[in-house]
Amino acid sequence: MSKLKGLAAGALALAALSTASAAEAETRVGLLLPYAGVYAALGEEIDAGFQLALEEAGMTDEFAIVREDTEVKPPVGLAKARKLVLEDEVDVIVGLVSSGVLGAVRDFVDGAQVPLIVANAGNDDATGSRCSKYITRVSFSNGQVNRPMGQWMYDQGIRKVYTLAPDYAAGRQMVGAFAEAFRQAGGEIVGEDFTPFRKTQDFGPYLTKAKAAGPDAIFVFYAGGEAISFVKQYDSFGIKADIPLYGSGFLTSPLYVNAEGPAAEGVVTALHYVPTIDTPENRAFVEAFRARTDRAPSEYAVQGYDAGRALIEAVKSGADSREALASALAKVTYTGPRGPVKIDPATNNIVQNIYVYETIKGDGGLTQKIVGTVEAVADAPNGCKL
Ligand code: BEZ
Repeated sequence: MSKLKGLAAGALALAALSTASAAEAETRVGLLLPYAGVYAALGEEIDAGFQLALEEAGMTDEFAIVREDTEVKPPVGLAKARKLVLEDEVDVIVGLVSSGVLGAVRDFVDGAQVPLIVANAGNDDATGSRCSKYITRVSFSNGQVNRPMGQWMYDQGIRKVYTLAPDYAAGRQMVGAFAEAFRQAGGEIVGEDFTPFRKTQDFGPYLTKAKAAGPDAIFVFYAGGEAISFVKQYDSFGIKADIPLYGSGFLTSPLYVNAEGPAAEGVVTALHYVPTIDTPENRAFVEAFRARTDRAPSEYAVQGYDAGRALIEAVKSGADSREALASALAKVTYTGPRGPVKIDPATNNIVQNIYVYETIKGDGGLTQKIVGTVEAVADAPNGCKL
């Protein structure tokens, strides 16, 4: 499959950040992640997980990596995707954190027929109405992570919920999926608000409105820097003592939960991975990631790791063209750190367990206590035709 023969002779010097020389590498990978902005830490974590997968497989020399920064901005992400394909001539793109950026690059990768392994961005449309045989998602979809919490919270006796999220595709889809499932279970959404994405510093006015609506609980999606600010302000505003906080698990990700501190204790959220999953596969992954970074892996780390594993499996299966790589990626299946995973042939989205967890105090800081598991959650095709 390699384009490297041509590239090695040509003017294309590998980017300064490349990790293998063109002469050695078989497959050119464009790692398209935010390395700046509110999701920079998430991008770095995905990158670390991806590298771990290549190292564990002893295959770092077989991949030439070109990194590009999306800055969490859709037009920048699209420009960088074009650059990776048209100038760097990558065989595959791996990454994307923001649903907004994924929405912006979808038509380009589909038209250019370049395989894309989505390692975070949950935009439902990319494996729904705007799916593509070139897009395989090994992370999650926004609906998949949040839908199970609708029934689960209703079963806990919660009847009235207020929702909050940043005003962009992920925020709307995440709380939208939760709200639909909660209503179907018999619950009531007593109000909702969307905060300006990447711009909101002060959540006070939104919390005042939420409290006034008189909910039994508040359900939110926030991630990265916004999650840290939100969880801290929820506590310091004095609302946590009266109204329990729930959300999608990115809110209290192990990546930044210790920056949230005691404010995160008792918050209940749901996610497809937590480092406390008690299986041999996960224990081995946690140990390997700790040896590398000195901390527990987060969902972002496992997504990068699984993107690497999926790519390795597809390459090892003998895929020798972009087309073959895309179809091999869609057939990947194994039991990994998060449990059994496979790609749904109807959507190219991952099928996986969703874990409901409470953030509690542990010996070495905050940790995740699993309080419920919903197995093998898959999305409906939602108009996807592959
Ligand atoms: C998203 O935009 O899809 C997203 C960003 C951060 C965490 C989870 C999802």
